[in-house]
Amino acid sequence: MTGPMEREERKDFPARLYRLYERITLPFTIYFLLASDRIHDDYAMTTWRKMRLGYRMYRNTKKIWTGISYRAHLAMAVKLLELPPNFRGDVVECGCYRGGTTANLSLVCGIVDRHLYVYDSFEGLPDAVEGDEYASAMGNRFLAADIDQVKQHVAEHGDIGRCTFVKGWFKDTLPQHESPIAMAFLDVDYQSSLNDCIINLWPHLHDRGYVFIDEYVLSDFCALFYSERFWLEQFDRTPPGLFGGGSGVQVGHYWLGPFGGSSITGGSKSIAYTRKHFSGHWNFFPED
Ligand SMILES: C[S@@+](CC[C@H](N)C(=O)[O-])C[C@H]1O[C@@H](n2cnc3c(N)ncnc32)[C@H](O)[C@@H]1O
Repeated sequence: MTGPMEREERKDFPARLYRLYERITLPFTIYFLLASDRIHDDYAMTTWRKMRLGYRMYRNTKKIWTGISYRAHLAMAVKLLELPPNFRGDVVECGCYRGGTTANLSLVCGIVDRHLYVYDSFEGLPDAVEGDEYASAMGNRFLAADIDQVKQHVAEHGDIGRCTFVKGWFKDTLPQHESPIAMAFLDVDYQSSLNDCIINLWPHLHDRGYVFIDEYVLSDFCALFYSERFWLEQFDRTPPGLFGGGSGVQVGHYWLGPFGGSSITGGSKSIAYTRKHFSGHWNFFPED
């Protein structure tokens, strides 16, 4: 598959060596990332089922172009598998592009019996809002993917019966979201889009629900999760913080950051998350 974001695959020796390394370590990566003993028994995730799921998720990221690594997908899978079946809530994905992450999240939703709401403009990035450090007029409509093609990807490689696709700009569609949320995954590139997602979805998030983000390498993007002002003004609470902000959670890869990274190893492959009950609030002022 070709598209605006694909990079030519390097064919020199170091790049080939790294690809070999990735393939050799694949079973270990899947095994260790899915080795949580908190995975709920009801999902009957035997080692064999975990390995099959992990391998399918890995393969899907090769079949449908996605900016997200299968390692990050596995990290979200584990957290969903750890939630007990009586933990209320759906899964929400904001920003699906061609549906690579959607396909993998839908497979996990099939196991844990949850619904997946997929929000995207399907017209790419929105107009730049003044003050948004990451938005630019040049970005307009970049990352547009056709909704029918995305649905076809998910039908072929995921569990489309679990999905509802909602087309439109987040500022118009997310205020209509009604159902409780167990986990949200936000890969939305712009500060204004992140703002729309959090303002509209956070109130529906289960008390111990998860919000994962992709842009964890950008400190000033992650800063929303530490902004005393934002959380006070919007939700009358202290900020929740962000686990993995800056470097991502430890999914096993070589990456020193902050941007780009080695072109051999492909840069960052992780994800960051918070939970509704987490705290990123500094509360130690001995001089008071
Ligand atoms: C980097 S892509 C997502 C990649 C995807 N997570 C994957 O796995 O390949 C960002 C997506 O967010 C969508 N998007 C960003 N801001 C939006 C907004 N305000 N409203 C609707 N869609 C938006 C874009 O259309 C694009 O599909």
